[in-house]
Amino acid sequence: MNIAVFASGRGTNLQAILNAIKKNKLKANLSLVLSDNKTALALKRAKRAGIKTVFLDPKLFPAREDFDREALKYLEEAKVDLVVLAGFMRIVSPVLTARFPDRIINIHPALLPSFKGTQAIKDAFLYGVKVTGVTVHFVDEKLDHGAIILQAALKIKDTDTLESLEARIHKLEHKLYPEAIRLIVENRLKISQRSVKIV
Ligand code: GRF
Repeated sequence: MNIAVFASGRGTNLQAILNAIKKNKLKANLSLVLSDNKTALALKRAKRAGIKTVFLDPKLFPAREDFDREALKYLEEAKVDLVVLAGFMRIVSPVLTARFPDRIINIHPALLPSFKGTQAIKDAFLYGVKVTGVTVHFVDEKLDHGAIILQAALKIKDTDTLESLEARIHKLEHKLYPEAIRLIVENRLKISQRSVKIV
């Protein structure tokens, strides 16, 4: 299976995926890393690993659909089967979701449907919840909305600061995302509307 990772930032989840492939825990081919941020550390990580990278300048594609049409060209060229969003700070349009039904996934640093959006760890921490976690889900046109593939919970300790909670969430993400990708690669998911079962 050919995978593309879309990332806008540090790319620690990309790194976890790269490591899982290297250790043969994930039998997939990372064919492409695409970013909307020229200086994303994710692009550096990909180049270091010898993976093809693409930077698409959002200024040149002001309409979401135009950006996605351009991205689609690269996905077709690399014969990508699965698109993995890893800290990609854009909502994908039907141009991509229609072409890759149940084949675009995202990771979110909270237990959806709680704390959607870009500040999820902080929002959960400030809300004072006792349990939060990580969600891997399919992507549709709505923000942080598609069917849930895997979730993992963690208890917030009285001694946690926002920084320590962020570190604990990221550690959990790096375990959960390669695991979710492996389930897809091994064709282990049975999807019926919002219900995703592992078979
Ligand atoms: C992660 O916390 C992920 O859940 C969210 O964006 C962050 C990306 O981190 N969608 P990184 O770029 O993979 O380090």
